[in-house]
Amino acid sequence: MKRAWIILIVFFSGQVFAQELAKGRELFELYCAACHNPGPGHPATYMLGIKRGREKAVIKGREDLAPEYIANVVRGGLLEMAPFRPTEISDENLKALIAYIRSKD
Ligand code: HEC
Repeated sequence: MKRAWIILIVFFSGQVFAQELAKGRELFELYCAACHNPGPGHPATYMLGIKRGREKAVIKGREDLAPEYIANVVRGGLLEMAPFRPTEISDENLKALIAYIRSKD
C-alpha cells in the first residue's frame, strides 16, 4: 500500500515536470530561439561561439549555466541581449524556461 503511494507520487511529480518542460520549450521558441537556436543566422549562438567556444555556443542543454545566472541574464540583459520584464515572462514561466534550457530534451 505504502509502495503504491510512492509510485503514484513519483508518477505525478514526473507529469508535473514534463508539463513544466513543455511550457519551457514553448517560451523558448517564442522568446529566445530567434537568437539562440543552433546554426547560422542566430546572433546569440554566433556571439557565444566566439566568446565561450563552439561547444558553449548553444545555450539549450548547457549544464554549466546556473539557474540563478540564467535568471539574472533574462531579467537584467547582457550586452546586446535586452532584458525581459515579469510582464513578458512571469517568475513562474521563467522557472519553466530555465528547467527547459538545462534539460537534455
Ligand atoms: C535579440 C537576441 C536575443 C534574444 C531574443 C535572447 N538573447 Fe540571450 N543572448 C543574446 C546575445 C547576443 C548573447 C551574448 C551576449 C554577449 O555578448 O556576451 C546572449 C547571451 C545569453 C546568455 C548568457 C550565456 C553565457 O554563456 O553567458 C543567456 C543565459 C541567455 N542569453 C539566455 C536567453 C534566454 C533564456 C532568452 C529568452 C528568454 C534569450 N537569451 C533571448 C541575444 C539574445
